[in-house]
Amino acid sequence: MTSEFDVSGKVAMVTGASSGFGVHFAKILAARGAKVVVAARRVDRLESLVSEINAAGGEAVAVAMDVTSADSIEAAFNQGEAAFGTITLVANNAGVADMRTALKIDEPSWDHMMDTNLKGVWLVAQQAAKRMIAAGVGGAIVNTASILGLRVSFGQSSYSVSKAAVIQLTKALAVEWAGKGVRVNALCPGYFLTEMTEAAFASPESQKYLSSSPARRAGEMDEITGPFLLLASDAGSYLHGVALPVDGGQSIGNM
Ligand SMILES: NC(=O)c1ccc[n+]([C@@H]2O[C@H](COP(=O)([O-])OP(=O)(O)OC[C@H]3O[C@@H](n4cnc5c(N)ncnc54)[C@H](OP(=O)(O)O)[C@@H]3O)[C@@H](O)[C@H]2O)c1
Repeated sequence: MTSEFDVSGKVAMVTGASSGFGVHFAKILAARGAKVVVAARRVDRLESLVSEINAAGGEAVAVAMDVTSADSIEAAFNQGEAAFGTITLVANNAGVADMRTALKIDEPSWDHMMDTNLKGVWLVAQQAAKRMIAAGVGGAIVNTASILGLRVSFGQSSYSVSKAAVIQLTKALAVEWAGKGVRVNALCPGYFLTEMTEAAFASPESQKYLSSSPARRAGEMDEITGPFLLLASDAGSYLHGVALPVDGGQSIGNM
């Protein structure tokens, strides 16, 4: 990576850091010299990740966070800030999926989806931006949306709606906070193998779907590293409100 992508010395927070993309984002930030606050509900997993990062020569601290609770988010930021100082880089990444058709989704599941994927992203972004602005420093917030925020797919209505709203929220926050030095952008990943997708990955339908996409395969975890660092680092200093697909061309569609 060239120096524009440098994140050394930055204080970062990664939500949803107990598995999948969150683990990857935490590791790549720590490996490049950022101090990383890793957040999620499953603290035992976070502690293992912190041990792994520390053993590799990085610096990280684990904080419990439930993104559906403003109090939990505030407490986690307090802990992270006490350990490393003002957090200026946020991978706002925690999320859940629901692969049921619209007729089968009940009201509590709908609310849980929106509370986690949308309200959680807003609460974390707001908490981060308030602190950056109060400290008189800028920063970068990278929301993990999805190509399902750009397109729809059969049987994922609540998820698609939540991610479309995250993209719109990204743009709205970018407009409000650009002048305060806080950049807000979103990644829109396609299909990557994580705990969220492993059951779907196993199905022949998913494999057929993937093999008919432009790149004809799922993404490898390393293939989100560059796009993430572009939005998170000073390499993206003139990027505000971008929703960047990282999807092997899947969101283009093919008629
Ligand atoms: N994998 C893909 O192909 C794909 C594609 C597009 C977008 N995404 C998005 O990428 C993000 C990460 O997902 P993933 O694929 O890495 O799935 P994952 O392995 O299932 O990770 C999801 C993470 O979100 C956390 N989380 C869920 N609910 C939470 C809550 N209430 N409070 C705090 N943390 C919570 C989980 O931690 P705890 O359970 O420990 O709290 C976990 O660390 C999600 O926003 C997802 O929608 C994934």
